[in-house]
Amino acid sequence: MKIAMIGTGYVGLVTGACLAKIGHEIICVDQDQTKINALCGGAIPIFEPGLKEIVDQGVQNGHLSFSTDLTQAVESVDVIFLAVGTPQASDGRSDLTQVENAAKQIAKAANGDKMIVVKSTVPVGTCRRVGRILGKHDIEHAFHVTSNPEFLREGDAVSDFMQPDRIVFGTNSTDAEAIMCEIYAHFEATKVPVIKTSLETSELIKYSANAFLAAKVAFINEMANLCDATGANVDDLAVGIGLDSRIGAAFLKPGPGYGGSCFPKDTLALTILAQEADSPSRIIESVVDSNSNHIRRLGRKIADFCADCWQTDKKHPMIDKRIAVLGLAFKANTDDIRSAASTVIAPLLIKQGASVIGFDPEAAAAAGAAIDHIETTTKIDEALSGADAVVVLTEWDAIKMINWAEKKTLLNAPVVIDLRNLYSPESMAKLGFQYLSLGRPTAE
Ligand SMILES: NC(=O)c1ccc[n+]([C@@H]2O[C@H](COP(=O)([O-])OP(=O)(O)OC[C@H]3O[C@@H](n4cnc5c(N)ncnc54)[C@H](O)[C@@H]3O)[C@@H](O)[C@H]2O)c1
Repeated sequence: MKIAMIGTGYVGLVTGACLAKIGHEIICVDQDQTKINALCGGAIPIFEPGLKEIVDQGVQNGHLSFSTDLTQAVESVDVIFLAVGTPQASDGRSDLTQVENAAKQIAKAANGDKMIVVKSTVPVGTCRRVGRILGKHDIEHAFHVTSNPEFLREGDAVSDFMQPDRIVFGTNSTDAEAIMCEIYAHFEATKVPVIKTSLETSELIKYSANAFLAAKVAFINEMANLCDATGANVDDLAVGIGLDSRIGAAFLKPGPGYGGSCFPKDTLALTILAQEADSPSRIIESVVDSNSNHIRRLGRKIADFCADCWQTDKKHPMIDKRIAVLGLAFKANTDDIRSAASTVIAPLLIKQGASVIGFDPEAAAAAGAAIDHIETTTKIDEALSGADAVVVLTEWDAIKMINWAEKKTLLNAPVVIDLRNLYSPESMAKLGFQYLSLGRPTAE
């Protein structure tokens, strides 16, 4: 099937390339000329493992192309995917400007009846709203609007798309349902469950899934704090509860709080949606609070721990100290720094008077541009040299595998605050480090 993908960001590019891989003919459109120029020149504008191979393959076999010309793309297809951004608006709602503008552009360009598949994460009611916008701006043609939320995780996006846990789509006509079944026919053979539902249910499934996962993260972080307060060990606790099949082990790893381009904005948007529907979700409201309190609390914890280690004034311990922050992306295997822990922790340390050097193999440039007064590098040794303390924020393999016995000599003081629980407290203590992790007793 010939499909246009409007929005060639993290989701649009992966979805477009994967749909091309399963045999469709995809034209990926973006208004960002630099991005399209890069793609046309064979470069991938984001870091995502395995993506370059399938993009190259799609381009070579003629199934995948790139353009900034939305009108021409819309004219040449019957099915149009919307994968534009839905960032957080200043009032916490989902900002639907990109979705609405794209809908107006599609209506203007339409040369026949079209089906619009909304892949962007949008609040309940948006697909119907897109239908109204299309109808208002083009009364000549008929538009089917379907909801098809995306569940891929950055860093594992290609495998998540190609081997999904499930495919969800919401439609309001049998014709639209038949087209969706044809688009995803490839997955029938692999017996991927397909949930065919209403527009509203499909839209809400995406928010509920993200909110539930965010709740798991917030829960284990609160348990880690409780372990710290009681002397229990959160790693053992996570195994002890995760082996219960009703709970499951995934997402039970303490860390610096959930971040990224989805959980923070989607949980907040869901609380507002629920309030406006006169059905407030106290659970999700608490998850949002818990996560923001957690990261603020970590800021204080880092400063207090460092003051103890350096035996300095507890009020202003960071003044003139050099702190190495390891990991700037919101998680490993991506260059995405949207709502990453680094964007909160590094400014906090800088505000307290520290000079901060951040290491990340893929996100150093983006973080350097986004965080005021941070120095960034793609070389671990450069970050560690002369550091008075090291703060670990992202679970990159390069950070997990650090040989601390070797790197200790680079540091000004052997102080490591590990907010991903990557190392053993016993090994770090044996090497002579003052080591803080989350919810695990300190080893002597
Ligand atoms: N990133 C993820 O991990 C992820 C996972 C699941 C769902 N989602 C959802 O998918 C959607 C897209 O997210 P993303 O991370 O890919 O965003 P992104 O910001 O990386 O990409 C959006 C792209 O759309 C382009 N765009 C906007 N309006 C356009 C228009 N009118 N014409 C052409 N191009 C246009 C932008 O230039 C940008 O390149 C969001 O709703 C997000 O919540 C994201």
